[in-house]
Amino acid sequence: MNNSRFWQQSQHRAGPYSPEFRTGEQQRVLSVPATSVIGLQWGDEAKGKIVDILTESHQIVVRYQGGNNAGHTVRFDGRTYKLSLLPTGILQKHVTSVIAPGVVVNPLALLRELDGLAAGGQNCESRLMVSDRAHVICPWHLLEEAALEKSRGSAAIGTTMRGIGTCYREKVGRTHAIRIGDLIRRDVFAAKVREIVPFKQRILDVLDPEGPRMDIDQIITEYSDAADRIRPLAADTTSWLLDALDANKWILFEGAQGSLLDVDHGTFPYVTSSNSSGCGIHSGSGVPERAIERMIGVAKAYTTRVGGGPFPSELNNEIGNRIRIAGNEFGTVTGRPRRCGWFDAVATRYSARISGVDSITIALLDVLSGFEEVSICEAYDIDGRITKTLPTSCEDLAAAKPVLRTLPGWQEDITGITEFFALPTNAQQYCRTIEQIMGRPIEFVSVGPDRVQTIRLKR
Ligand code: GDP
Ligand code: IMO
Ligand code: MG
Repeated sequence: MNNSRFWQQSQHRAGPYSPEFRTGEQQRVLSVPATSVIGLQWGDEAKGKIVDILTESHQIVVRYQGGNNAGHTVRFDGRTYKLSLLPTGILQKHVTSVIAPGVVVNPLALLRELDGLAAGGQNCESRLMVSDRAHVICPWHLLEEAALEKSRGSAAIGTTMRGIGTCYREKVGRTHAIRIGDLIRRDVFAAKVREIVPFKQRILDVLDPEGPRMDIDQIITEYSDAADRIRPLAADTTSWLLDALDANKWILFEGAQGSLLDVDHGTFPYVTSSNSSGCGIHSGSGVPERAIERMIGVAKAYTTRVGGGPFPSELNNEIGNRIRIAGNEFGTVTGRPRRCGWFDAVATRYSARISGVDSITIALLDVLSGFEEVSICEAYDIDGRITKTLPTSCEDLAAAKPVLRTLPGWQEDITGITEFFALPTNAQQYCRTIEQIMGRPIEFVSVGPDRVQTIRLKR
């Protein structure tokens, strides 16, 4: 028995707006574009800020991959909100926020985040749906990840230690996976935990003989208590979203991580374990790709990376430090200092192409104010071979030296500017150069963390 309050709504019924009822003309008139926001670098591009701005004009916001490894900061009305697993739409009362099947959900982290928002006066639980197909992060995922990362020494991926990769591995492996639909059925969940924990404990004992021991009853109690709160939020979000699309609701898809962390298309193995490029929208949400008519790619005016892996335009020098301080480049989730470098047009253009973005956002442009010169990495030199294509091997990417195009900088504070033509000429030229290399028009330029510090270009 599914007693979710969304269950009734999520049963598909062909209505007047369903495709089977439409004439060709109606289909054209009634089709409402869904929009997506995708990170084009290694994460933290200010996706959260752009999603927050677009949320005003949408009714549904969907997270479709990743988990509480994400960290999105939004600022408006003098307040700062930090979101991790919850879709950014959760802050808006008119929005239903959806955690779709492709997300991995740590139930305890989900409730902590909801409680944190409630403590700040934002009661959002009634506006949230969680897919019963989404997979559940359990204690053994965290313990196994910690042991694996430790064993890799200097070759560690530098994960967020949230059990993301180990949970996705169980999902794809299909043997010891638990979904939200299992979690909310007490007996099913308890039986699975009793089967999985002894097996996992044997592996953990080998990986880390000094490591902690799991307590089966404690896990069942703690997770079942969380399940009691999650049960009313659980639903078949896939059918619900398809119905919403038929009903011409405005849907916004919110990417987590960045395209270069995509497990299939990113800088493997220094990636996350989901399809964080635009390629993940269809598989992660169940909404067909052709329903998405507008893809916005977000990139910083420079590049950052947190964790291990090659980074050709990295600045291990005073300039990198200056960018880190000016941009407050410290991880939202782990607090780690982010590695900083010049804008990598090779990697970012690759991301824009695989996700098929229609337009780009250049964020944190204000951070580059005050430099005499600013540079863009427009090609790689790999052992004397010049290329504008992102290499597939990590070894080649590690060997790549940036070929830089250097432009004059600007000294003015731009954080109060609201029109593109009012930016210093050199800042305009910098943006136009990126636009030209990327081959996509700029839609937004962000000049500060607040919602109002955003320039929207007329298209
Ligand atoms: P996300 O993971 O892509 O949502 O990005 P994060 O929120 O992790 O990181 C972006 C950081 O930059 C956050 O602290 C934002 O508040 C901040 N931010 C966003 N846009 C701007 C901007 O235009 N200028 C400055 N200085 N900070 C910004
Ligand atoms: P948002 O949504 C930046 C990085 C980690 C690590 C790698 C794998 O805020 O852009 P994982 O824990 O996912 O297995 O770690 O991916 N990473 C991120 N880096 N922003 C993120 O999210 C990230 N999520 C994961 O640092 O290098
Ligand atoms: Mg982030």
